Amino acid sequence: MTSTTVVIIPTYNERENIATIVGRVRRATPDVDILVVDDNSPDGTGAIADDLASTDSAIHVLHRTGKDGLGAAYKAGFAWGLERGYVRLVEMDADGSHAPEQLPALLDASGRADVVLGSRWVPGGEVVNWPLHRKAISRCGSAYARVVLGVPVKDITGGYRVFTADALERIDLATVHSHGYGFQVDMLWHAYTSGLRIVEVPITFTERVHGESKMSTGIVVEAMVRVTGWGVRGLPARFRGEPRTAVAGTAGGAAEELN
Ligand code: GDD
Ligand code: MN
Repeated sequence: MTSTTVVIIPTYNERENIATIVGRVRRATPDVDILVVDDNSPDGTGAIADDLASTDSAIHVLHRTGKDGLGAAYKAGFAWGLERGYVRLVEMDADGSHAPEQLPALLDASGRADVVLGSRWVPGGEVVNWPLHRKAISRCGSAYARVVLGVPVKDITGGYRVFTADALERIDLATVHSHGYGFQVDMLWHAYTSGLRIVEVPITFTERVHGESKMSTGIVVEAMVRVTGWGVRGLPARFRGEPRTAVAGTAGGAAEELN
């Protein structure tokens, strides 16, 4: 292995998107490896990924037996990457919502942070082609989690992120149980309470053109319920004014020490 970074792309029925996204990552960041984590997609995404991998040694595929949620797919991908000694592990959607062309900026920021969040809700960040209700769910969800958890991050549910291997080792992945949307909040909550340095970098999130979102009401409800639980459990420590060691900030802006 020559690359120190791996982009993990979870897939479930992404037949129309997988070749495009893999090609874009290879062009935008030629030194970076790719791991596709496919949950035995009925539409044959896994076989397409195998074809891509057969002609390019930077591309790898992890086949899982069935649909088990985004969180489980990422945990399997992280374990795969950590075992192989990658230093940085990236989360990216397969549907083109996360532009590989913006990955260099995220990787750049990871030089001075444990966790980099691609953020839609910091200055310079944006969402293209999202219906108003999706924007509202995302913004309200982020605001709710920010207030209830006291995590000073603007985009708490986003799925375009860079973790250092060290950060993932400090987060006890076995204690991250959420499946969908909530997985991203869960990871961030673990990162924050582990005292990791978190930085947000603006991204342009573009809604998918092909295929369907796997987001459901159940996934949103799971996230809300869990966030409320963590928030309530964390209240005594917040009222006692126990110091937080995490540092959050935006790229280019001064990092703010949290209390
Ligand atoms: N392996 C696997 N298994 N992959 C999955 C599964 C699963 O059960 N469910 C979804 N995926 C993959 C999709 O194929 C896609 O590549 C990626 O995970 C994101 O799924 P989408 O269905 O496109 O998610 P979204 O666009 O609704 O949500 C995005 O934005 C949310 C915040 O607004 C994602 O980035 C979420 O992680 C994020 O929380
Ligand atoms: Mn999507």
